[in-house]
Amino acid sequence: MEGLQSRQVTFLERVRLLPLSILVSVREARMALQALPFVISKDFLRTEFWRRALFSGRTPWRLSKDFYAERAASDIHCFGETPLVTLARIQRRAGICSHHKVLEVGSATGRNCFWLATVIGCRVVGLEHIPGFVSRADRVVSQTGCSERVRFISGDMGDSLPGEPDIIYLYGSNLDDDLIARFARRCCEKGEGVRVITVSYPLTDYLPDSYELIDCFPAIFAWGVTTVYVQKVVRPA
Ligand SMILES: C[S@@+](CC[C@H](N)C(=O)[O-])C[C@H]1O[C@@H](n2cnc3c(N)ncnc32)[C@H](O)[C@@H]1O
Repeated sequence: MEGLQSRQVTFLERVRLLPLSILVSVREARMALQALPFVISKDFLRTEFWRRALFSGRTPWRLSKDFYAERAASDIHCFGETPLVTLARIQRRAGICSHHKVLEVGSATGRNCFWLATVIGCRVVGLEHIPGFVSRADRVVSQTGCSERVRFISGDMGDSLPGEPDIIYLYGSNLDDDLIARFARRCCEKGEGVRVITVSYPLTDYLPDSYELIDCFPAIFAWGVTTVYVQKVVRPA
C-alpha cells in the first residue's frame, strides 16, 4: 500500500460503478418519495430552499470532514442525517407535539429543527459544534423569518445544554462513550420527566439509575436499520 495517495475517481471507474450508483439513487429516491407527505409545507420548503442554496458550494459532508480533519480526529467521515421519514416516525412514536420545546443536539444543517418547527409547530433549539453549520442555519432563519420558533447555538454537548427543553433528540452514532456519558449527565440537569431520544444506544447503559426507558423501536437510516430509544429522566442532577 506504500506510495498510495488520494486521487479522483476516473471516468472508466465511474462507468463501471454506474449500476451500483443507480441502485443507490433508486434507494435514495424511494426514501425521498416516502418522505414526500412530510415535506408538503410551504414554510418547510422555504427553509429547504435556503438551506440547500447555502450548502450548494460546500456540502455538509465536506464541511464536517474538513472540520474533523483539521482537528486530526480519528473518524472524519462521521456525518449523517436522520431521513425525514424516520424523523416523522420518531415524532409520532415519541408524541412530539406543537406545545413541546425540543432541543436537537448535534443539529448539523438544521433540517430536523426546521421540520419540527414548521411542520409540527414546536419551539426548537439546535446545538451544534461545527461553526459553519451554525452560521448557515442562522442565515436560513434570517432569510425565512422563523426566529420565533427556531434558533441555533454553537457549543459542545458535553459542556452544557441550552434552554429548558421537554424533549431532547440526539443522533450521533460515532460518539465516544465518554461524550455520551457527559451528554447523559447534562440531560439530567434539565429536570425530572425530560424525555431524551437517542439512536442506536439507550442512556440507561450509561446512567442506569437516572433514566427510565419508555419506548424503543426500529428505524431506517441511510446505512441500515437501527433502534431508536426514548427514555425519560427519573433522577435529575
Ligand atoms: C450524525 S450527525 C446528525 C445530524 C442531525 N442531528 C440529524 O439527525 O440529521 C451528528 C451531528 O452532531 C454534531 N456533533 C458531534 N459532536 C458534537 C458535540 N460534542 N457537540 C455538539 N455537536 C456535536 C456533528 O457536528 C454533527 O453535525
